[in-house]
Amino acid sequence: MSLGTGLGVGAAVLLLSALLLPHLHPEGPEEEQSGPSMVDAGALPKFREDFRMQNKSVFILGASGETGQVLLREILKENLFSKVTLIGRRKLEFAEEAYKHVRQEVVDFEKLDEYSSAFQGHDVGFCCLGTTRGKAGADGFVRVDRDYVLKSAELAKAGGCKHFNLLSSKGADKSSSFLYLQIKGEVEAKVEELNFDRYTIFRPAVLLCNRKESRPGEWLIRKFFSSLPTSWAKDHSVPVTTVVRAMVNNLIMPSDKKRELLDNQAIHNLGEAEDLNKP
Ligand SMILES: NC(=O)c1ccc[n+]([C@@H]2O[C@H](COP(=O)([O-])OP(=O)(O)OC[C@H]3O[C@@H](n4cnc5c(N)ncnc54)[C@H](OP(=O)(O)O)[C@@H]3O)[C@@H](O)[C@H]2O)c1
Repeated sequence: MSLGTGLGVGAAVLLLSALLLPHLHPEGPEEEQSGPSMVDAGALPKFREDFRMQNKSVFILGASGETGQVLLREILKENLFSKVTLIGRRKLEFAEEAYKHVRQEVVDFEKLDEYSSAFQGHDVGFCCLGTTRGKAGADGFVRVDRDYVLKSAELAKAGGCKHFNLLSSKGADKSSSFLYLQIKGEVEAKVEELNFDRYTIFRPAVLLCNRKESRPGEWLIRKFFSSLPTSWAKDHSVPVTTVVRAMVNNLIMPSDKKRELLDNQAIHNLGEAEDLNKP
């Protein structure tokens, strides 16, 4: 190997390690998974029907994102709620008939207190909000992934939301030395203090999707996973469609737990209990 090639390989390994490290971070000791332990796929249609009968309302934060848009599509396809509201910084355009009754609240996240009415009267909330340090800088990342998320949760709680669902990340840990994981852990804990009747945290590993936005780091990680044995890749990544299936299945399953934490494995288990692409 020439010196140039060796340096190139070394640089690629270093880059990949830097990108992967936060995602390969182990779960903290007190953070064991506490979602549904067994999934009876046969019971899901009945749960779904029972859930529909309750005529609940939902809001989604981040519905324009990779996870949020799949979540919205599934919620509408399954007709789970009598009222669906998107809360975001811009109005989204939908051509399909299925989206006809979706309400939209356009808010300024820097002045959320002025938009408290947008958060009123929803039984369930999903937060799929987030940015990256690369896109927003360190301060911008903290502002979105912690401050906007927490303020939204506070307003939702004040507005009567009973079940708050937070899309967090594998390895979230408020004492982590990685800013990303630290902020995710911090916001998880602060939202918990709000004392929702039911609070569900999802901690997926690397999200697999065909991201429209160019994120070379994530692209490199996905290429890396696709070259690995399936079981290893499954420990460290998860398709967005599986995450959404897990969110929806968990939502419709009755639970007496105040706080549920679904790690990447639990997301796979619950998300794969049923085929998302069923007619
Ligand atoms: N990517 C991964 O591999 C991975 C792994 C584990 C966990 N997660 C976490 O999962 C969550 C969802 O990820 P994703 O990839 O589905 O999200 P995404 O595609 O990046 O979408 C993010 C959403 O947040 C909104 N948003 C971003 N910056 C904003 C700002 N400054 N003000 C208001 N809204 C803003 C976006 O709205 P606009 O469309 O208006 O920009 C969009 O709706 C994030 O919290 C992420 O950290 C990601």
